[in-house]
Amino acid sequence: MTLSSILAYLALLAAVFYVANATDPNQLQDFCVATNDPKEALFVNGLFCKNPMDVKAEDFFFSGLDIAGDTKNRVGSNVTTVSVFEFPGLNTLGVSLARIDYAPYGGLNTPHTHPRATELLTVLEGNLYVGFVTTNMPNGENKLFAKVLKRGDVFIFPQGLIHFQINIGRYPAVALSSLSSQNPGVLSIANAVFGAEPPISVRVLSKAFQLDEKIVKNLQSKFDM
Ligand SMILES: *[C@@H]1O[C@H](CO)[C@@H](O)[C@H](O)[C@H]1NC(C)=O
Repeated sequence: MTLSSILAYLALLAAVFYVANATDPNQLQDFCVATNDPKEALFVNGLFCKNPMDVKAEDFFFSGLDIAGDTKNRVGSNVTTVSVFEFPGLNTLGVSLARIDYAPYGGLNTPHTHPRATELLTVLEGNLYVGFVTTNMPNGENKLFAKVLKRGDVFIFPQGLIHFQINIGRYPAVALSSLSSQNPGVLSIANAVFGAEPPISVRVLSKAFQLDEKIVKNLQSKFDM
């Protein structure tokens, strides 16, 4: 083959396999209702930027992740978030962190999703049972991938999927979560479903969860904030 025929062949391949690939930027908040009034304007896709001439080393610094969150609450866990709202230097950089503390004997980070981020969970102390559930498989199944983790183990929760962690040990556990968004968002399933404000209709929840309406009302009273 001559050079020109090779080039022609490559050009043909490129033409055949070219797929237009364009989309809007990923959202960094749940929604962004447009406004024409600058006084009303709060967020762009991300937050406004500080003048680079005024930026200091402190803007790229966060301190305090050595401090344990208080796990004396009804689920026995506490998430200390380091997202763009706690750490403005993260703006537009696509990463954030969280420290998660778990009480001994069953401290639970309840089933939840991060609509905008994949999460890497690193166990710093203790033993956790963790898992995530897939979206509907071709056979309709939602598959659970779960595992027991010890100190130094890492698990990944793909973006948007429901996941949880529970302390199965006799001692407090601690994990570090690394997230692929400056604002991952958290949707806690039980709170969102049974604690929505105003409440989701009892009829809807009773049918969806195949529960007696009395049980639905009881659950709603528990998750009422
Ligand atoms: C998490 O811990 C912090 C610091 O101790 C505390 O202020 C906060 O109320 C705790 N949150 C929950 C949900 O227990």
